[in-house]
Amino acid sequence: MTRRTLAVVSAGLSQPSSTRLLADQLAAATRDELVRRGADVEIRTVELREYAHDVVNHLLTGFPSPALREALDTVAGADGLIAVTPIFNASYNGLFKSFFDVVDKGALVDRPVLIGATGGTARHSLALEHAVRPMFVHLRAPVVPTAVFAAPEDWSGEAADGALRARIRRAGAELAEQVDRRPAGTGVADPFALTTSFEDLLAGRDPA
Ligand SMILES: Cc1cc2nc3c(=O)[nH]c(=O)nc-3n(C[C@H](O)[C@H](O)[C@H](O)COP(=O)(O)O)c2cc1C
Repeated sequence: MTRRTLAVVSAGLSQPSSTRLLADQLAAATRDELVRRGADVEIRTVELREYAHDVVNHLLTGFPSPALREALDTVAGADGLIAVTPIFNASYNGLFKSFFDVVDKGALVDRPVLIGATGGTARHSLALEHAVRPMFVHLRAPVVPTAVFAAPEDWSGEAADGALRARIRRAGAELAEQVDRRPAGTGVADPFALTTSFEDLLAGRDPA
């Protein structure tokens, strides 16, 4: 059985958080599809509010705390990433952006990503397309076609069981397919891996 790891990043600030709820449901849908495909799935959730101070300190000093280092390694080492943010002022919130500003350079290249967002109004659902998706494209991560936005009305009654659930299932299936296509373990972060060739290191060159 192939082992797969999903990293789930949630940038909600409230407790309880609708962003976290959406993130959990996206993770469950992805896991269910991967299990259906024969994988053994581990979900690792990074609740960003717990790292807010560490993220700012990293931005100021260039160094992560041990706890933040672990969270960054979780993201860098996963086979797939689910990234969910509340919409603030028609875009991702500052915590979400700041966290991805300190993710190691190149860590998300070719890492399949599913994006989601919550907001106070469905009128801002396209923030996923004009803000969140371009950020991951810049980081060279393939983002699955279905992005899931949940407005307050999506959580109640028929919508939660119908339209939102269907979007979550479709997005989860898309991420599972992308993860399933890739060889297992390619996302495992190796802290001792060389990012520069040995010849370049000996010659004191850093092509980056
Ligand atoms: C400072 C601030 C700005 C916000 N701006 C927007 C916005 O532009 N569009 C929107 O739809 N919701 C906006 N909201 C509402 C949040 O996106 C919404 O409440 C979100 O679901 C909260 O997520 P949480 O429950 O995980 O904390 C804003 C909330 C705050 C606190």
